[in-house]
Amino acid sequence: MSQPLLTLDFLDTPAAPAAADHQPAQDVRVSPATRTGRQRKLYIESYGCQMNFSDSEIVSSILFEEGFDTTEQLADADLVLLNTCSIREKAEQTVRMRLSQINSHKKRNPGLLVGVLGCMAERLKSKFLEEEKLVDLVVGPDAYRDLPNLIREVDGGQKAVNVLLSRDETYADITPVRLNSNGITAFVSIMRGCDNMCSFCVVPFTRGRERSRDAHSIVQECRDLVAQGYKEVTLLGQNVDSYKWTSEDGQEFVNFAQLLERVALISPELRVRFSTSHPKDITDEVLYTMGKYENICKYIHLPAQSGNSRVLKLMNRTYDRPWYEERVQAIRRILGDDCAISTDMISGFCSETEEEHLETLSLIDFVQYDMGYNFFYSERPGTLAARKLADDVPLEVKKRRLQEVIDRQQLHARARYARMVGRVHRVLVEGRSKRSEEQLSGRNSQNQVVIFPKGTAQKGDYVNVLVTSTTGAALLGEIV
Ligand code: SAH
Ligand code: SF4
Ligand code: F3S
Repeated sequence: MSQPLLTLDFLDTPAAPAAADHQPAQDVRVSPATRTGRQRKLYIESYGCQMNFSDSEIVSSILFEEGFDTTEQLADADLVLLNTCSIREKAEQTVRMRLSQINSHKKRNPGLLVGVLGCMAERLKSKFLEEEKLVDLVVGPDAYRDLPNLIREVDGGQKAVNVLLSRDETYADITPVRLNSNGITAFVSIMRGCDNMCSFCVVPFTRGRERSRDAHSIVQECRDLVAQGYKEVTLLGQNVDSYKWTSEDGQEFVNFAQLLERVALISPELRVRFSTSHPKDITDEVLYTMGKYENICKYIHLPAQSGNSRVLKLMNRTYDRPWYEERVQAIRRILGDDCAISTDMISGFCSETEEEHLETLSLIDFVQYDMGYNFFYSERPGTLAARKLADDVPLEVKKRRLQEVIDRQQLHARARYARMVGRVHRVLVEGRSKRSEEQLSGRNSQNQVVIFPKGTAQKGDYVNVLVTSTTGAALLGEIV
């Protein structure tokens, strides 16, 4: 089949700001229904990052044991839970608006219980419970095991709160109810919390200290997924490269590279992804491990946040630009040019000058990212930056710089897609394409979306696809 290497779409369509699974997305996920005849119905909406989506699966598992099925219909629910995100002000506003909608629904259905979970829980517990009287239940990310007790309290007519953070909770023994899944790809949390204290970031406050989950329980969960027909796992943590676990008797130590290897060895048919990598922690050992196993996907989310060393210092990222560039060169050296790299950038951080912003653009040119998740700075109460630095870049300037970052990033994303045209890619089929019933959609190792006529292939198959064109946000081709 002859097709132009680049279709016109490539020129016309803006590259979609695809919300990657690990990424704080503006969107919300409603957990789908489980119908097992449980007495009560739980409706759960999740905001923010993949950690939250993954936690909602743990919550559903805990509440399933307590007699709750999930429902996709708010109208059918006995219990409504919002799993919330605090990362930027806008994320919190979205949840607040949603809560007031749910509250008017509750006025018509007085028996309905409403709870707030996740990252807003700690910060806003008193506001939710006392001032606004919006919710019955507030539960922080480390207290989900307490949900059955808390719900009993609420059933007894009280309000209930538990926002205690833990130093060791990893929910290692809880098998998540796979709500967010297509039956092919699954997310596996390998650690919780974060100790990094980036000055802009609320996560260390909302999710507490960093702790790594028992390596054996991670490997077992992945094995179970393979036995159920899953073909891809994404190992999740705020900072996966600082994963470290020691057995209780002190005899066994596992770092991230070793964990990655153990998971990769479960089956060559199981793809392994991970997110997020902190540039200060990603080691050559991890890169060599990625190179050694075909089934470890060649894609690294390596958020830079800024291209300027002074700003990085103010952000407390603990690396500077030369360090970051060296890590990118190590990726290119060890894994080659095909390894995809993505970033998060923050525009308009405290005192960022125009020249410093231009350095972010030049870093984007240096790395030629495959994808970028870019934001303008949003001050978060309680963070180091909020306490010590002035949020002094005007909003219009933040937004203009952000647009320049997005535009620059899209140029490179399109070029990275374009260079894949004319090559054969191994694609894991994830399901039907949104465009058409006749097309399937999957991803290549680099995490790029590939769309092709279905032929005889099915969800869960690996197929070789010759890519013949790109839209700039997806690759189009045919099975060979
Ligand atoms: N642990 C990951 C980031 C998790 S938060 C890491 O260290 O890379 C996801 C992204 O949200 C961050 O990478 C950052 O770009 C963005 N972010 C976090 N706090 C923010 C804030 N206050 N304003 C704007 N963006 C923010
Ligand atoms: Fe936030 Fe930094 Fe931790 Fe990422 S590494 S979650 S940006 S504090
Ligand atoms: Fe994730 Fe948002 Fe919390 S990005 S860790 S849900 S603040």
